[in-house]
Parts: sequence; C-alpha cells; structure tokens
Amino acid sequence: MSHNDSPGHRLETIAVHGGMDGVRESGSHVPTIDLSTTNPLTDVESGGDSYENLATGGDLEPGASAVYQRLWQPGVARFEDSLAALERTDGAVAFATGMAALAACLLATAAAGRPHIVAVRPLYGGTDHVLATGLLGTTVAWVQPDGISAAITPETGLVVIETPANPTLELLDIAAVCAAAGEVPVLVDNTFATPVLQQPALHGATLVLHSATKYLGGHGDVMGGVVATSTEWVTRLRQVRALTGGLLNPFAGYLLHRGIRTLPVRVRAQQQTAMQLAALLDGHPALSRVHYPALPGQDPQGLLGRQLHGPGSLIAIELAGGYDAAARFTESCLLITHAVSLGGVDSLVQHPASLTHRPVVASAKPNAAVVRLSIGLEHVDDLAADILAALDAVLADKALAADALVGAAEPLAEQLNA
Ligand SMILES: Cc1ncc(COP(=O)(O)O)c(C=O)c1O
Repeated sequence: MSHNDSPGHRLETIAVHGGMDGVRESGSHVPTIDLSTTNPLTDVESGGDSYENLATGGDLEPGASAVYQRLWQPGVARFEDSLAALERTDGAVAFATGMAALAACLLATAAAGRPHIVAVRPLYGGTDHVLATGLLGTTVAWVQPDGISAAITPETGLVVIETPANPTLELLDIAAVCAAAGEVPVLVDNTFATPVLQQPALHGATLVLHSATKYLGGHGDVMGGVVATSTEWVTRLRQVRALTGGLLNPFAGYLLHRGIRTLPVRVRAQQQTAMQLAALLDGHPALSRVHYPALPGQDPQGLLGRQLHGPGSLIAIELAGGYDAAARFTESCLLITHAVSLGGVDSLVQHPASLTHRPVVASAKPNAAVVRLSIGLEHVDDLAADILAALDAVLADKALAADALVGAAEPLAEQLNA
C-alpha cells in the first residue's frame, strides 16, 4: 500500500499496512529479511544502468537489479515507504543512526554550495555538537526563533530546529519558522513527537528527521535514522548514503518497519501515563519546575492541538536542590533505568547536562538541576511510586543537611554565648 493511492486511510491503518506492497502476493504474511549484499545481474548493460541510476539517488526501476546492498535494500525501502506515508512526504531515506541521517543532510547542503546553517537551540546535544564544531564543513548561526530571517545569508542552506526540543520540551511554531526561512529549507527533528503527534511537512518543513532508535523502533534494541522529505531531497540523500555508506542494515530495517506498526498505540499509551505523572509532579516540594507542554503556561503560542496533537511522553523535571539533588534523584530511581535514550517501552531517566548535552557550550547547556524522564508502558502507579520514592530520597538528604547545619551551628552558638 502506498500512501499516494490510499488517501482515505487513517494514521493507524497506514502504520499497520504501510510499506507492505507485494508481501501478500509473495505468499507471506510479513516481509522476509533479505540479507543479500549483492544481487545477480542479467546482463552487463542493464546491470551498469541500474548501478548508475541507484548510485546517483534514483529509485529502483521495475524489473531492474538492486545491484548492491549499499545502493538499495528492499526491507529498508519498506520501512522508508511506511514512514513517508505517516509523515505525508514524497519519500524517506533511512540511515544507520539519527546522526548519520543528520550528517547526510548537512553534507548534501554543503555540497550544494550553501554550507551556512541557521539553528535554534535547544537541540539534541549531538546535533548541537556537529553544528558547533563545523565538523562536516558547515558554519552555524545560533538564533532565537524571531532572529531566523535576519540570520539568513545567500550561503544559508538549511534552518535546523527541534520541537518539542531535547531536553526541556520547548515548542516552536513550525509554520512560522518556515515563513521566516523563506526559500531556505527547514529541517525539523521530529524524534520526540513522532508522526503520531506531529507531521512537520504539513506545516511547511522540507526535511523531517528522526532518530529511529527512539519511538519508531520503540523497544531499545535497534539503532536507525530516517529523513522524510521531497522527491528532490530523497534523490540527494540517497546519493550521499550510497557514497558515504551510512546505510541501515536489513535486520534494523525489518525491526523499524515492525516497530512502526504499533507506534500509534505505544505513543498514545505512554503519553497518557506521562500526562498523569506530570500533573502529579507539578508543585512537588523537591522540584522547582516541571517541563511538560500540557502543563499550564507552557504552550504560550497555543501549538498543542494546532500543530502538536499531544504533549508526548517525555518529562523534564528541575530539582530545587540543583545538581546534587538531580544526581541523587537519577541514581535513586529503581524501576526506571538510569540510561541514555528514550521512546522505548520501558522508562528511562538521565541527566542531560552531564550526558546527552555534555558537549553543548556552557552558556547553552541545560540547567544542571534538570533530569529527563522518558515514560514507557509500565503501570502509572508503579512509575509514580518509583519517582516519588526517589524524590523522598532527595528530600531526606535535604533534611539531613539541614540537621547537620543546625548541629554545626549549636557549638558555634555556645561559643558565642560563652
Ligand atoms: C532528538 C534527537 N535527535 C537525534 C538524535 C541522534 O540519534 P541517534 O542516537 O540515533 O544517532 C537523538 C539521540 O538521542 C535525539 O534525541
């Protein structure tokens, strides 16, 4: 089923049936995993033609040989078709990781002679790092959202944003960003929202990037990246992939395609739990702030409902006791695993300033009091108990510290009175 010939199908149906063309006809119920690194050729001329077509970013022609796995892989193409249908784009190109996907976008931009990038922070720390270092030959102007149009020069090839942003879930108005960018393509990292909650292309974004490692895979057992985009960009990105080799392997392609089939159900169930937890945590005495788009005052532009169809299942909490309290909380969670990554069926907790956002310059680094929670599919009561117990540990430390202060002050007071 291709998204173009099934315009009536809803997101849930596309998630289950997308990328399944020809599977039933092959006598199978699910796609088979094709591990071939090379593909037989019928004759020299057609083999060479197919090679040239694929190495320059073309689509596999009907009846042509896929030639070599670095150029085309059928299971990966299924995952791409499915994701493109969900994101409502012409196509998609999958990579080994989210960073490989971003690198391909930056290389394609720089190769087109417009290596200047305009970017809005916060972004995932790795994205920030690759832009700030200029490692791939790009330069960057960091701007506030209202500074985008002023920062664009004739050399600007891309505007890069993330919404909701990693780690503190700030929201940006994608349509407004695209209007400010004018002719310059806008790349939206849609990892946190997934196409279930937000489809950036419908708001004007040219490139929609995912760390597929997160919600698309959904089980913490596969790495991948993908860019959903226009036909023109699909060709450019496929060419970069063919020539740099950052491709997704067949098993990863299978797992990601499989993961997408349950994406809407997982995203909504995880979100339901996160909404309850965010409401529970808001105002807790150990916290100075809870970052969650659905909480009062956190969506001043009214993007929830208009652009973002739900607040998602990431919550960033800010500990009143600063770094020490954040570390104590993170290390005190028992059911929730202390580990980087997000979007899987099990809940994770991590400290962005020291981990995912460690390479970010001090002036733009997340506050050291912030801890990021990725809420999974466990029962809400069990997660609440784990989080509240970890916050109790933080409060107990504070009480002990206060006692110690009083204890230390007593002899001093005695001396003063003596
Ligand atoms: C929002 C976001 N974008 C991109 C990436 C990079 O993806 P990967 O780790 O798959 O390379 C991550 C990884 O954490 C992320 O959180």
